Formats: sequence, C-alpha cells, structure tokens
Amino acid sequence: MGQIRIVQGDITRLEVDAVVNAANSTLLGGGGVDGAIHRAAGPDLLAACRSLGGCPAGEARITPGFRLPAKWVIHTVGPVWQGGERGESALLASCYRESLAVAKAHGVATIAFPAISTGVYGYPKQQAAAIALAAMREWVDDFEKIIACCFSAADADRYRKLCRECI
Ligand code: APR
Repeated sequence: MGQIRIVQGDITRLEVDAVVNAANSTLLGGGGVDGAIHRAAGPDLLAACRSLGGCPAGEARITPGFRLPAKWVIHTVGPVWQGGERGESALLASCYRESLAVAKAHGVATIAFPAISTGVYGYPKQQAAAIALAAMREWVDDFEKIIACCFSAADADRYRKLCRECI
C-alpha cells in the first residue's frame, strides 16, 4: 500500500529514487526547479539531456541523477498557462501520469514531484495541485511513496487541504 506525502523543501535534497524536473521542451536547463536540479546534479546531467533531443509538453524522459541523492531524474515539460482553454489541464495531468509510468518502468519505489507549471509557466496553483493529487492517487499503489515537494509553506498548506489523508 503506497503513500502520498507532502513535504516542504528543496527537491534536490530529497533521498528518493527519482525526482521529477519541471523542464522546458529543450531539456537544456533553465531557472526555477530546473536550474536547481541541474546545479545540484552537475554538468553530466546537461550532457545526458543533450542526447535526448528534447521533449514535447506532457511527456517525460529519464536520466541518471548524477550528483543528486536521487538515482534518477525524470524530466517532464508542463503546459504554459494560457487561460485554461488550450488543453492545459490534460497536458498537466499527462506530465504526472507519464512521469509515474516512466518511473514504474524503471523500478522506482519512491518519487518526488515539484509543483509542475506553477512557477514560470503560470498555472494556477490550486487547480494544478488538484490535478497533481488526482494523478498521484491513481498510481499510489504502484509505488512505496509519492512525494509532493512544495517549495513554500503556502504551497504545502494548499496540498494538505486537498489531501487530508496525505501525511
Ligand atoms: N525544490 C522544489 N520546488 C521548487 C524548487 C526546488 N529547489 N525551485 C522551485 N520550485 C518550485 C516553484 O516554487 C514552483 O512551485 O517548482 C514549481 C515549478 O516552478 P518552475 O521551476 O518555475 O517550473 P514551471 O512553472 O514548470 O516552468 C518551467 O521554467 O525553469 C524554467 O526551464 C524551465 O522553462 C522551464 C520553466
């Protein structure tokens, strides 16, 4: 029986099998959590990403974690918020589902997600949290632990209000 956990902190420090990166379609790094993961993983991560040739929004790719505590990094590309009428919710749900599918295929037991698309990409945080938790609940029994790693206390509170059963 798997668990969904909500933690507040820096995803690059989590001792999990895989961390999910909120990347852009080039997979060549950026700011936010993408920048943090690349800084912590070291230059080998960028070299590994270069060989992947990018990633469309809603899909996921996996690389080693290099200097990160996590063995794997699963790179996914969230939708840019454009008002909600351009398929953003389906694309965001796909980011979580595809990342979980790739993780399962690689024998991952513990995985941590940032709040994909809710920073630079402007996705409304409340709606994004509901989409994230719905996907996590679909997959929870395929994993030991699925972690929602929230960077701020406000983000963590938002998730906890939507998931009373999450520890
Ligand atoms: N650990 C956990 N969460 C983090 C961290 C971190 N070290 N740094 C940032 N976050 C959080 C942000 O607070 C936000 O809630 O990650 C969430 C996603 O924000 P962004 O990193 O801006 O990602 P996103 O909105 O998906 O935009 C992706 O930004 O950095 C670029 O290359 C990236 O072009 C892509 C775009």
